[in-house]
Amino acid sequence: MAAPILTTPPSPSPNPLALIASDMQALDQVIAQRLDTSVALIGQISRYIIAAGGKRLRPALVLLTAGALGVENANKHKLAAVVELIHTATLLHDDVVDESTLRRGRPTANETFGNPASVLVGDFLHTRSFQMMVEVGSLPILQVLSDATNVIAEGEVLQLINTHDANLSEAGYLHVIRSKTAKLFEASAQVAAQLANASPDIEAACATYGQALGTAFQIIDDVLDYDGDSQEMGKNLGDDLREGKNTLPLIIAMQRASANKAALIRQAIEQGSTEQLHNILAIVRSTGALDATREAAHQEALRAIHALQALPHNPYTQAMEQLASQLLLRRT
Ligand code: IPE
Ligand code: IPE
Ligand code: MG
Ligand code: MG
Repeated sequence: MAAPILTTPPSPSPNPLALIASDMQALDQVIAQRLDTSVALIGQISRYIIAAGGKRLRPALVLLTAGALGVENANKHKLAAVVELIHTATLLHDDVVDESTLRRGRPTANETFGNPASVLVGDFLHTRSFQMMVEVGSLPILQVLSDATNVIAEGEVLQLINTHDANLSEAGYLHVIRSKTAKLFEASAQVAAQLANASPDIEAACATYGQALGTAFQIIDDVLDYDGDSQEMGKNLGDDLREGKNTLPLIIAMQRASANKAALIRQAIEQGSTEQLHNILAIVRSTGALDATREAAHQEALRAIHALQALPHNPYTQAMEQLASQLLLRRT
């Protein structure tokens, strides 16, 4: 038998979160402890969504930034838990609003427990996160996080107003995603800088890194709604169009397509219909709109990496750079 041909396996990309593996364990412990309540249904629903996993990106951002700036104290785990609880609360509410049925590879909480329970448990997680923020005892940190939760709410409402609007501009789209998604990434990096008593310049650079990273993250998410794999994503694809949500792939495709094809997309957005999803996907691909959207995310990732120049160079900032590059290739 011929000897097998030895090929060099592709070198695996380094995992930027490996550096904070023990911090991430501490985070999970804090979250588990802080879901305590005498109301059984709250524990049941919050564990249902939290135990399903999720990428824990926002807390990772707190912990990486804290590592980069040399923060040792346990408040970093508490703040990491705070941002994950805020995120989880917004997901519970978002899935009700979007009528989504799949999240983190399992039926959404609204699908399993109903809308009222999802909304109310989302409120519980939001308010628990505020109790924990207060415990950290820093008014500036409280300000950043309370502003962020407020801006997220604005972003979700703005997006609701924009539903079925085929004329949404690129700037209008960016405003929504910076609010609903990037703001929490921004706050995550910024509060870690505050915990480190960093200079105003470094705090601003951390905030910029988080904002750019979060913007890139949501742009890629909007690509994956057309170009991803439901199994890998753990959510349904085509949901954006079904909701009549106009996102960058469609905005660019309408700019580039023939009048007839642009009209097809316009109609689908206005009607919130996935009937033409197959044709629309072909238009989005043939106009190069998906690549152009990925390029927009790439530019944001570069902006994130550029912001890191103001921070000390160490393994944590290297991991933050890797995170920004790898995010462009994400499938989940
Ligand atoms: C989902 O966020 C909501 C968006 C901002 C797209 P994530 O993709 O970070 O969700 P999990 O926490 O990993 O499930
Ligand atoms: C994410 O928005 C929700 C928030 C950031 C509050 P989307 O509705 O676009 O995200 P998915 O697709 O449900 O995860
Ligand atoms: Mg949604
Ligand atoms: Mg939504």
